[in-house]
Amino acid sequence: MKFFIDTADIDEIRALAETGMVDGVTTNPSLVAKTGRRFTDVVAEICKIVPGPISAEVTATDAETMIEEGRKLAAIASNVAVKVPLTEDGLRACRALSDQGTMVNVTLCFSAAQSILAAKAGAAFVSPFVGRLDDIGQSGMELIADIVEIYSRYDDFTTEVLVASIRNPMHVVEAARMGAHVATIPPKILSQLFKHPLTDKGLAAFLDDWAKTGQSILGDQG
Ligand code: E4P
Repeated sequence: MKFFIDTADIDEIRALAETGMVDGVTTNPSLVAKTGRRFTDVVAEICKIVPGPISAEVTATDAETMIEEGRKLAAIASNVAVKVPLTEDGLRACRALSDQGTMVNVTLCFSAAQSILAAKAGAAFVSPFVGRLDDIGQSGMELIADIVEIYSRYDDFTTEVLVASIRNPMHVVEAARMGAHVATIPPKILSQLFKHPLTDKGLAAFLDDWAKTGQSILGDQG
């Protein structure tokens, strides 16, 4: 399973990339707006830090301008995945950009029907938003299970399921159990994945006992 991080904050990306856990990055217009920086500069910088796919979203709503924006974003670096919304125009843009060899991430997917269209449009990734479905009382994870199952039935569906809008560590665990290809994880939640109180407690006890021996592994000359 691949882990992408869901942020446009360069410091967060740099710090988490050093853990060796980061296979890619997703951004969206809201995350870029938070940085207060020029979009294309931010994307170029992220592409140099993380070699995996970096999602950069178009902001036009008509297919023709989306394609134009997508080409401009794809020209920034070879690891850019152009993100388009799951609309009719977005899927037309997806088909055109994919046919030209550009990775496309179809975002704002909220139904299994939409996910089928994304696969048929040649998307490299489809991004179902689990948290936003949970927020309106529907099950985000049921949607992931449906999409993973549907895609597994067709050899010609090569689109990867990129679980987005993740709000807690259990979303990541459930996505992994279902066989989703990718989870895009906010930095705070990725940090939470490392932690368990029994790990901290156990380590403290081991270190206490070790200190009593007076030994040092590096100082051992034997
Ligand atoms: C990533 O590609 C999505 O834009 C992001 O996960 C959305 O998350 P949110 O629902 O927390 O804004």
